[in-house]
Amino acid sequence: GGVMRFLARLLSVVIPLTLLIGGAANARDWKAIQESGTIKAATEGAFQPFNYYEGSTLTGFEVELAEVIAKKLGLKLEWSVVPFDAQIAALKQDRFDFAIASHGFTEERAKSVDFANPHYCTGGQIAAHKGGPLTVSALNGKSVGVQLATTYAGAAQKIKGIKTIKTYKGDPEAFSALRAKKVDAWISDKFTVKGTLDKNPDAGIVGGELVFVEKVSMIMPKGNKELAEKLNHALAEVMKDGSYQALSQKYFKEDVSCRP
Ligand code: ARG
Repeated sequence: GGVMRFLARLLSVVIPLTLLIGGAANARDWKAIQESGTIKAATEGAFQPFNYYEGSTLTGFEVELAEVIAKKLGLKLEWSVVPFDAQIAALKQDRFDFAIASHGFTEERAKSVDFANPHYCTGGQIAAHKGGPLTVSALNGKSVGVQLATTYAGAAQKIKGIKTIKTYKGDPEAFSALRAKKVDAWISDKFTVKGTLDKNPDAGIVGGELVFVEKVSMIMPKGNKELAEKLNHALAEVMKDGSYQALSQKYFKEDVSCRP
């Protein structure tokens, strides 16, 4: 009768709608990943010394760390290179199983993705030409360059008195802008600043004050509990067997793990 027709019509709308919404969030669970034999990871490839290209080879602390983690899990690793500002959206579309691209923990990000246990601790640092603004207070009235969608952009927005914040696709672009004096200062990861300045000793640019500290983790689709457990366990294992420490020494000449 009428009721059945109504229900049938209702379902004909609700079912495709559910498929449409559900289809966008079909994260592979641990079992599916394990059965495929390959775990899919994303990184950026423009954030040295964490993830970058050496010629045509993707490398860096996080790239090598993900490789030893995958090995611990008994899986092959397949890389996707995705612009940093697109990674969270792409993760939500399940284009890969996790991203390892120096995501610092923020409440805002934690609303849409899950964070693994931190794989390093670090901070955002100011860099400027010698004689330029090297402290938070010296940024008053100045322009600052930062990478789009980063915690440095967020930190810059909170500093009162900054005249302009210019955002760039990547840190290499932000550094170039500082070098060309299109901005007065640059805020980035302290290790990225150090690595960049070491490679460009003639730029006349120096590191300044640390603006904030953060814990950096791999990010995963929300609620993928078993995957989180496996990644955290493998991370703990590589921290125990010395392979983490070897990579930390190779890239930083110090232990960058988060200590209590
Ligand atoms: N640690 C900063 C953040 O959480 C920057 C990360 C940038 N990563 C990258 N691969 N460029 O936003």
